[in-house]
Amino acid sequence: MIRILSREDVRRALPMRQAIEAMKGAFAQLSTGQADVPLRVALDVPRHNGVTLFMPAYLAADDQMAVKIVSVFNDNPAKGLPLIHALVVVVDATTGEPAAVMDGTYLTALRTGAASGAATDLLAREDASTAAIFGAGAQGRTQLEAVCAVRPVQEAWVYDVSRERAAAYAAEMSERLSLPVRVAETPAEAVHRADVICTATTSTKPVFADADVRPGTHINAIGAYTPQMQEIPAETVLRAKVVIDHHEAGLAEAGDLLIPLRQGLMTEDHIYAELGEIAAGLKPGRKLPEEITLFKSVGVAVQDVAAASAVLEAARRLGLGSEVAL
Ligand SMILES: NC(=O)c1ccc[n+]([C@@H]2O[C@H](COP(=O)([O-])OP(=O)(O)OC[C@H]3O[C@@H](n4cnc5c(N)ncnc54)[C@H](O)[C@@H]3O)[C@@H](O)[C@H]2O)c1
Repeated sequence: MIRILSREDVRRALPMRQAIEAMKGAFAQLSTGQADVPLRVALDVPRHNGVTLFMPAYLAADDQMAVKIVSVFNDNPAKGLPLIHALVVVVDATTGEPAAVMDGTYLTALRTGAASGAATDLLAREDASTAAIFGAGAQGRTQLEAVCAVRPVQEAWVYDVSRERAAAYAAEMSERLSLPVRVAETPAEAVHRADVICTATTSTKPVFADADVRPGTHINAIGAYTPQMQEIPAETVLRAKVVIDHHEAGLAEAGDLLIPLRQGLMTEDHIYAELGEIAAGLKPGRKLPEEITLFKSVGVAVQDVAAASAVLEAARRLGLGSEVAL
């Protein structure tokens, strides 16, 4: 029997707080050599202006295995279809049996938010109470949800190049989180009072000015995922204690780090740790209240495996989804 889980089932099965704990476990396994994460396979489909990525991973300590299949087909919006479609297949790592098929689109937003939640929990000041979110998209929503799950957030600010999207975000998230979420008219208005900043944009240049970042701020930077993309000013990267999700992926893809490296402004030694080293207790997180900490994420398949496995476990317990005999 294989369990089929819809987006709504995934949402109901795994609350953010639990997803955050699952991410700490996944990153700890990644950084202690207990995860097998082959390079993702990309199938280009130039005829239809698309690409489909296959992202497998195995977590040895937890005996969890899954593959995410994500498609980005650029002509879809013109056809009235979503740009991105994603699906996760969970395999029982003790028998090799297919165990579940579930929505991967919301799961991606959930695990990406949860990674920032884990980083915020391990790196932000305990008293952090103001959040600033850049990018009012799908990821920006779970970023704020995750920060609120681990710190006593009293107010949040959102900045987006589209004021309309920012306004819709503020209305939705204020209600969902019972929190004042305000639209910032400028990046500076959001940043200069923030204790935690999350950048979840598609920008290719820094989204705020370094001069506006206060000492003691924690930043989660999850947008820039190619060597040319950038959200964080190089000066901020240089001032910060830099933590990344995965050395190999980060140094291949993260423009926020690769641009200052290429410009000779820093060396790889400036990268302090992988998040999993801190989650596993191998290195301390924040040491001083005035430190600026920066978590740079490009996304790793272990996150999908851990989130999907936690969803499946809860779905079995709660009787969510439907079971089908193959
Ligand atoms: N690190 C990860 O694991 C991970 C996972 C999923 C997505 N992502 C990346 O996160 C980014 C956001 O994803 P999404 O699904 O929310 O996209 P989205 O298109 O729904 O939202 C992005 C938003 O950013 C805004 N934006 C663009 N440039 C900006 C700027 N300079 N300042 C402020 N806002 C700006 C856009 O107007 C848009 O509202 C993408 O780059 C995506 O590839 C990363």
